[in-house]
Amino acid sequence: MKTESGKLSRRRFLKESTAAVAAALTIRRPGLARGAEKELSRAGVVVLLGPPGAGKSEQSRRLTERYSIPAISTGDLLRDHVRRGTPLGLQADSYMRAGKLVPDSLMNPILEDRMSQPDCERGFILDGYPRTLAQAESLGALLKNKSLPTHVILLDVPTERLFKLLTGRRVCPRCNRSYNIYFQPPKKEGVCDVDNASLVQRSDDKEEVIRRRLDTYQKETVPAIEYYASQGRLERVNGDQPPEKVAAEIEAKLAAP
Ligand code: AP5
Repeated sequence: MKTESGKLSRRRFLKESTAAVAAALTIRRPGLARGAEKELSRAGVVVLLGPPGAGKSEQSRRLTERYSIPAISTGDLLRDHVRRGTPLGLQADSYMRAGKLVPDSLMNPILEDRMSQPDCERGFILDGYPRTLAQAESLGALLKNKSLPTHVILLDVPTERLFKLLTGRRVCPRCNRSYNIYFQPPKKEGVCDVDNASLVQRSDDKEEVIRRRLDTYQKETVPAIEYYASQGRLERVNGDQPPEKVAAEIEAKLAAP
């Protein structure tokens, strides 16, 4: 149906985009057994919690590849606004540089907008949200109308290791892939394995900012974790092991009935 101006109506446009994305996602992935295909539709919403540096983005990337659902990193969404110099990015930047949380009035609308995109209909991975009790409650309200199974997974990593994981992190500015000079170095020093771009260090991966981020985590995010634990919904995974073993533990949790 076309509007008077000859353009597709917004409703029809959204419907068609959704159908196209859904069709793309149901295309059989080569080499995937029938059972595994069925399993892909079961991931639903995966909420990845854990301190800065625990490996949330590393595991999000693996889950996206495994289950063909998008990963939503609130940190990446904010960094994208900062990079583009949007009014929101300009405001968020000072909080991020200081190792503080960005206020909900800035954070929540971007998240809601991203979650409402058609590619999130089958499920998605949340990396970096919720980070406070208030955000956990908002998320509960947002997910209420979606009939998707939800897993809340905490990556447990000892604090003394987090420092090395963060100071050693280098990121590809082009494809966003993370490396670690101590634990996961690129094949060629300082260069991304995937696209050859020069790796950079995040501005909040400086020692004094890392200390503040870890402190913010203890004060603001631990209460959100306790909230899920008190509801019997928290699933703990040992994040202090090689990434493929962490991924296997997460997959086992997602596969459990
Ligand atoms: P965000 O980008 O979310 O940062 P973070 O939570 O501090 O987490 P990181 O991205 O630092 O670590 P990660 O757990 O993803 O670890 P990674 O996989 O990279 O947020 C940044 C800022 O944005 C916040 O400080 C805040 O200001 C703001 N913000 C974001 N969300 C917000 C919200 N909801 N509300 C308000 N403000 C918000 O791994 C770390 C390193 O270890 C890498 O080098 C990696 O290669 C390596 N590695 C990973 N796993 C392993 C492993 N198993 N073994 C060895 N090395 C590993």
